[in-house]
Amino acid sequence: MPITLRPVTEQDLPLLTGGESPFDDFGPRPPLSEVPPPALHEGGALAVWDDENDTLLGEVSWIWQQRGPTSDSRNPMIGIWLRPQARGRSAGTQAQRATIDLFFRHTSVNRVEASTDVENLAEQRALEKAGFTREGTVRGSQWRDGAYHDCYLYSVLRAEWTGRTPGSAKVG
Ligand SMILES: CC(C)(COP(=O)(O)OP(=O)(O)OC[C@H]1O[C@@H](n2cnc3c(N)ncnc32)[C@H](O)[C@@H]1OP(=O)(O)O)[C@@H](O)C(=O)NCCC(=O)NCCS
Repeated sequence: MPITLRPVTEQDLPLLTGGESPFDDFGPRPPLSEVPPPALHEGGALAVWDDENDTLLGEVSWIWQQRGPTSDSRNPMIGIWLRPQARGRSAGTQAQRATIDLFFRHTSVNRVEASTDVENLAEQRALEKAGFTREGTVRGSQWRDGAYHDCYLYSVLRAEWTGRTPGSAKVG
């Protein structure tokens, strides 16, 4: 499926509700009222757009993890949520691959991270297809739906990404 990552617009906000997945059950949350910034060096998000059907598929987002005391030890951790009708058609793999490429191309980070529930098989597979390597279990790290959940931590290093094809997703 041809996709584009582009800035989120006001019109997207009602459709980017999160939820509708056991791995996204973080309780009631207010509708997004502000367009999240696509600022790579801060937290942000980009809309995932289906170029063939002109439809919003979901969003990719990122936060930063500090792995040491200096700014050189900051890594982006990416996340994704696709609308139910958009799942299982490779958009998740493509969008995360394009997001990895964005960070290696436009920032000097050495490592891009992701994390997902140990039971989220679809995201584990999508991350591995996108180029991530599973590093291990981060035990009891995520509070969701009344319990702490174990997650797997994934990463891809700059040296591993060099020479890889970023895929066909566009960034607009
Ligand atoms: C997880 C998510 C991003 C994956 O994106 P996607 O576009 O649906 O996934 P893709 O089509 O790119 O690839 C999914 C892969 O997982 C496989 N898969 C899907 N469901 C699976 C399951 N229950 N068990 C095992 N594999 C599964 C698919 O077969 C496919 O692998 P294949 O191409 O080798 O056949 C998307 O489904 C989603 O947004 N889910 C709800 C929110 C969520 O879980 N976000 C991630 C939170 S960390």
